[in-house]
Amino acid sequence: MLMDKEKNYILGIETSCDETAASVVDSGRMLISSKIASQIDVHKLYGGVVPEIASREHLKTIVPVVDQALKDAGITAAELKAIAVTVGPGLVGALLVGVSFAKSYAAAISKPLIPVHHIEGHIASVYLSDREVEPPFLCLVVSGGHSHLLAVDDYTKFRIIAKTRDDAPGEAFDKLARVLGLGYPGGPLIDKAAQSGDRHAFSLPHPRVEGSLDFSFSGLKTAAIQQFDRFKREADKKGLAWTDLCSLEDFAATFQEAVVTTLLGRLEEALETNPYTTIAIAGGVSANSRLREKAQELSAEKGLKLVVPVMSLCTDNAAMVASAGFYAWQSGRRAGAEQDASSVLDLERFTQA
Ligand code: KG4
Ligand code: ZN
Repeated sequence: MLMDKEKNYILGIETSCDETAASVVDSGRMLISSKIASQIDVHKLYGGVVPEIASREHLKTIVPVVDQALKDAGITAAELKAIAVTVGPGLVGALLVGVSFAKSYAAAISKPLIPVHHIEGHIASVYLSDREVEPPFLCLVVSGGHSHLLAVDDYTKFRIIAKTRDDAPGEAFDKLARVLGLGYPGGPLIDKAAQSGDRHAFSLPHPRVEGSLDFSFSGLKTAAIQQFDRFKREADKKGLAWTDLCSLEDFAATFQEAVVTTLLGRLEEALETNPYTTIAIAGGVSANSRLREKAQELSAEKGLKLVVPVMSLCTDNAAMVASAGFYAWQSGRRAGAEQDASSVLDLERFTQA
């Protein structure tokens, strides 16, 4: 008789920013259910995430979102092996909602609680998108809050090769979109506008940190805003609109190209001293169509395997937390009663603890 393979259901919970999410994943690889309550409509009225509002929205939605994730999975809480929750980094008030809920829930159903680092979560979205891929690989995690180039040496073992010294690329996309009057979140809007634009309409610097692979997007963002101001001043003088001097599409495409070139250039440099045969891209900015296209080109040219998450797993979700939680659970990681949320949390130190 064929025995059913043992199920390792993990419930993932994610509340680090503006998405209240819960998901059930089996054995780190099989997505069973994923529920995301996005707060974008609320925050977009303010042009960005308002932390206090984010916490309140999480409080309102956490219970129904978890309920729905279990219902959609068709399982009861008793069938779970563990609860995994993002404990940092992120907005501390927002994280606290998820952590407090997960702590009480795990205690109530007598299941272990697994603390997960948000970046570790983004990396795990790779395992849900390609069931065969395994560490080691080189991973670029780019989002609204992060820009990390990491060696993923094992499921719970990471080495940071480079990170941003200031802004994350998603933050730069969001800020520029606000200046251009496109709305929030800016990344997808710039991506869309850039589709038909000239990628080299004007020149932008490609800043780098001397002697390091670290990123710095603040200078690029400022240079783009200054260029926008120049177009505007010049247009005002001539009684024109700034878009008469440079179309919105050209502006978006030129900025996007500079970001993508910087990210992939640094990844290519990192490969010289870290010759992995698999590369991956994760985090909200990995949804960027030009980044995905250029990463494909780079991997084809170098004969590397490339894994990019399916679009629904690029931005924040709880499936990635449940997947990372599975591997952390297997490694024996557990949260104690004192488990807290941290707005700042070093990935290497967290996973070595
Ligand atoms: O991973 P995520 O949901 O949250 C953080 O961990 O920060 O990433 C959100 C970020 C936002 O800054 C958003 O503008 C950016 O990802 N983003 C994009 C695209 N889709 C989302 N950036 C560029 N192109 C996109 N298509
Ligand atoms: Zn994220």
